[in-house]
Amino acid sequence: MPLVPHHVASLQPYVPGKPIEEVEREYGVTDVAKLASNENALGPSPLALRAAQEACARVHLYPDGSAFLLKRALSGRFSVPVEEILVGNGSNELIELLVRTFVLEGEEVLTSAQSFVAYKLAAHAHGRTLVEAPMKERFHYDLDALHARLSPRTKLVFLANPDNPTGTWFLEKELVHFLGAVSRDTLVVLDEAYVEFVEAEGFQDALALRQRYPNLVVLRTFSKIYGLAGLRLGYAFARPEVVALLDRVRAPFNVNLVAQAAGVAALDDEEHVLLSRRLVRTERPFLEQGLRELGATVVPSQANFVLADFPGRPGMELFDALLRQAVVVRPVAGYGFPTAQRITVGTRAENVKVLAALRKVLGR
Ligand SMILES: Cc1ncc(COP(=O)(O)O)c(C=O)c1O
Repeated sequence: MPLVPHHVASLQPYVPGKPIEEVEREYGVTDVAKLASNENALGPSPLALRAAQEACARVHLYPDGSAFLLKRALSGRFSVPVEEILVGNGSNELIELLVRTFVLEGEEVLTSAQSFVAYKLAAHAHGRTLVEAPMKERFHYDLDALHARLSPRTKLVFLANPDNPTGTWFLEKELVHFLGAVSRDTLVVLDEAYVEFVEAEGFQDALALRQRYPNLVVLRTFSKIYGLAGLRLGYAFARPEVVALLDRVRAPFNVNLVAQAAGVAALDDEEHVLLSRRLVRTERPFLEQGLRELGATVVPSQANFVLADFPGRPGMELFDALLRQAVVVRPVAGYGFPTAQRITVGTRAENVKVLAALRKVLGR
C-alpha cells in the first residue's frame, strides 16, 4: 500500500525567499539586503512591536481562540460585522482552509497561470483539480480567459489583485464583468495582500463589491504594509455562513497570542502605514528607473515589489551572482518567467545596493 496518496507524493514544496542567516552562512557575507519576500522595508509598526513584547509575558496561556479583540478591531477599522471576519495564521492558512472546507472531489479550483503559487499548492495538497487560465501580454491577469474556463464544477476562484509575482493589476470594471458571470455557488476569493499600496485609478473597492456579490471573499494580510510577516497573521471578509464553516474546520488556536496583540496595535498605527506606503511610492520609481538603465524590462507594479526581466540572463544564475554580493532577490523561473527576478522595494540604501550589485554582476 502506498504511504501517501499520489497527490501528496507528487507535491512540489513551496520555495520561500532565502533567509538572511542562510545567505550569511553559505556565502560568507554580512550586511545582507533581503529583497526577496515583499516584506516591509521599515520593519514592524513600533506600536505593534510594543504590544507584541508585552504579550510575550502571557505566552504560557493559550490565545483567545475566537480572537475577539482582533476581530473587534478589524470590524471597527473596516466597518465589517464581526461575524463576517475570519483570522488566520497568515492569509496563506486561509487559502488552504478555503480549499479544504469548500472544494469537493471532482470540483475545480480556478486561477490564473503564473499567479501566486499558494493557490496551486493548496489545490494539489488536497488532491483537487486546478484549472489555470493563461495570462495576457505575458504578465497580466486575463479575466476573459478566466471567464471562459468557468464550469459547473468551478467551486473556488482565486484572483490576486495586485498580483504576485508580477505586481500587475486589473480594473474593477473587469472584475465586475467577471463576477456577473460567476454562479452564486462559486466562491470568488479576491486576494488583496498588497491593496494598501495601490494608487491606480479604477481599482476595486472590494468592501463595497461584497455588498453586491455575497459570494466574494476578500483576503488580506498583516505581512506586507503592517510589517508583521514573521508573526503570521491574515484575515478574510466573507458572508457569515462561509465564515462559520471555515471556523469549524480551522485549528482551535490558529492565531497565536502575540500575533493577536500585535495585530490590534498595528491597525491603530496609521502613521506606520502612511510612512510605509510613502516609502514604496517614492522608492519604487527609483528602483524601476535604475533597473531600466541596466537594460531590464520592468513590469508595471502597484505593489511593494517589481518584476524585472533580464533577457538572456538565466534567473538562477543572476540570483546566485547577487547572493555573492549580499543581495537576495527572488528568481521566478518556477512561475514561467525564466529570466526575471522579483525584487522587493527596499529603503533607499537597499535599492542603491541592489542596483550596484546588478551593475557589477551584469558588467554594466
Ligand atoms: C498574493 C499573496 N497572497 C497571500 C500571501 C501570503 O501572505 P501571508 O500568508 O504572509 O499573510 C502573499 C505573500 O507573499 C501574497 O503575495
